[in-house]
Amino acid sequence: MKRPIAAVVGTGRGVPDTIMTNNDFAAIGIETSHEWIVERSGIVERRIAKNGVTTASMAADAARNAMEKADIHPGQLDSIILSTATPDRLLPSTAVDLQAELGADRAAAFDVGAACSGWLYGMTVAEGLISSGSAETILVVGAEKMSAIVDWKDRATCVLFGDGSGAVILQRAKTGKGILSSFLRSDGKLAELLYRPAGGATIQFSQQVLDDRAHFVKMAGREVFKHAVRSMSEAADRALDAARLTGDDIDLLIPHQANIRIIEATAKHSNISMDKVYVNVDRFGNTSSASIPIAIDEAIEKGRIREGSTVMLVAFGAGFTWASMIIRF
Ligand code: ACO
Repeated sequence: MKRPIAAVVGTGRGVPDTIMTNNDFAAIGIETSHEWIVERSGIVERRIAKNGVTTASMAADAARNAMEKADIHPGQLDSIILSTATPDRLLPSTAVDLQAELGADRAAAFDVGAACSGWLYGMTVAEGLISSGSAETILVVGAEKMSAIVDWKDRATCVLFGDGSGAVILQRAKTGKGILSSFLRSDGKLAELLYRPAGGATIQFSQQVLDDRAHFVKMAGREVFKHAVRSMSEAADRALDAARLTGDDIDLLIPHQANIRIIEATAKHSNISMDKVYVNVDRFGNTSSASIPIAIDEAIEKGRIREGSTVMLVAFGAGFTWASMIIRF
């Protein structure tokens, strides 16, 4: 097992107060039921950002929370890496808005785009920056305002997603604690199984785009489900192999919180019993790349992650992208 290069020294989350339950969909004309949503996804409620709450403002809440717990101030940040599929603007990055909001004047700030796997991509890039000597202290945030990009007329997608943000502070590891292994993979041939067709440089905004609702998320749910189970299982195997560990060595598994059935299948594949799996998809829905850092922060608060815990993180998202990481806390 390699000696850790980078360690988590603080975590935080920033989730909107507004709760939308499964029963609230009737009020906006969506034909669905609490039973259907729970049976297919495990989701009971999700948080929705009100007008005025932005991806950057949720990120700032999570970041301040993490910096406070790490006992560092914004001027100490060398880099800010923000993972998001819902940037506040297409240009410039949302990370620079976050930097300005925090007053982190010394930091290099940039976005990472790898959809739901994006936070693990960001963590891996951060570890690399620390390893190369380019940075000592890095803020890695996942922040998503999914409510802004889902089609609120498409019942197959709008019931699945929620808003929120999670963050960690990563610093050069001084003891045996920190990132033990990581794995990243993508397959761009499958991009159109989960994507937003319009609004970028190729299909620019037009009346046609609005009429076709082509600026909203489109998803081939069944296909995504199949690939998610397969890819998250592969990612878990690769992180365990690289750290020379087995499922028995894992104190807590935190899979990307997309769907309880995908979470259960991933745990089963790695021979990890559900009592060692952190689940909050019932309360937050799928918050894309914010889901894992939100779950880490909650798990620490609830004592599910303690000093010395070995935690495996596994994600899958649009792209497709998939990723995993094992961290000793
Ligand atoms: N309420 C009631 N009925 C619905 C709803 C809804 N909200 N949504 C779809 N249905 C209907 C469909 O219209 C269809 O009806 P039909 O048979 O009359 O045509 C029926 O339910 C079955 O639809 P399917 O899409 O085949 O349902 P499935 O069992 O596959 O479940 C689901 C759908 C939950 C989306 C599932 O495919 C899934 O979980 N996929 C993975 C999605 C996911 O997790 N994506 C994110 C992962 S990656 C990331 O996080 C970015």
